[in-house]
Amino acid sequence: FGVGKTTIMKIINNQLLKETQKFNIVIWIIVSKEMNIYKIQSGISLKMGVTLPKNEDETIRAGMLYEMLTQKGRYVLILDDLWDKLSLEEVGIPQPSNGSKLVVTTRMLDVCRYLGCREIRMPTLPKQDAWSLFLEKVGRDVLNYPDLLPIVESVVEQCAGLPLAIVTVASSMKGITNVHEWRNALNELSRCVRGVTGLDEKVLQQLQFSYDHLNDERVQHCFLCCALYPEDHNISEFNLIKLWIA
Ligand SMILES: Nc1ncnc2c1ncn2[C@@H]1O[C@H](COP(=O)(O)OP(=O)(O)OP(=O)(O)O)[C@@H](O)[C@H]1O
Ligand SMILES: [Mg+2]
Repeated sequence: FGVGKTTIMKIINNQLLKETQKFNIVIWIIVSKEMNIYKIQSGISLKMGVTLPKNEDETIRAGMLYEMLTQKGRYVLILDDLWDKLSLEEVGIPQPSNGSKLVVTTRMLDVCRYLGCREIRMPTLPKQDAWSLFLEKVGRDVLNYPDLLPIVESVVEQCAGLPLAIVTVASSMKGITNVHEWRNALNELSRCVRGVTGLDEKVLQQLQFSYDHLNDERVQHCFLCCALYPEDHNISEFNLIKLWIA
């Protein structure tokens, strides 16, 4: 995870919204772990500007949604972050045909295969892009310290081309120009990674690094509050601060 699926979907969604002549409607919804058929139906209908009857069962709602989507004609439906196999029929999504498109992102290959979608594996960032992203997030000041550069390069390597790892580690190291601190960071990161095989576990280690570098325990607690929100939820700054104060 953290390879950039949602980021790409956002860009595609925004691009398609501009190209209004190609599709009659573009619907993007975040599905995530806690989703069920009922909620997906509500999500889609909300984006269509219509409401499905709340008290009807899923089958009735599926019929209505099917009708509405069919009438719309050419649609693009982006289901981001699908965790379970999904039956289009049960939700009420017509088989995409006549130019309609269904785009699904998932961490699970079998979810993609179940839908009969064409598989596209998200690659990690090429070395050069990983470096540019890291530099952008850590601040270009590091370029002024030649002693630092080889260590910074090794730190970037530890991020394995994963945008989430790059963004997180770079933000933790922002403003630090002391060579010892960088060396310590590299040690910490390479120690973490030893014995870890999958990319998923690896990114978790980078997140741990960033968390540990929130030096104040109170700041760590503030950060943990964010876990109360659903994934990819837009967190209101105002509400979050209210939560912290409470
Ligand atoms: N190409 C990119 N350039 C810059 N930043 C990126 C890029 N791709 C992703 N990011 C950043 O990396 C982080 C993780 O990306 P994103 O949420 O898109 O991953 P994901 O694949 O959807 O993860 P998940 O499986 O958890 O849903 C975000 O902070 C995003 O802004
Ligand atoms: Mg995502």
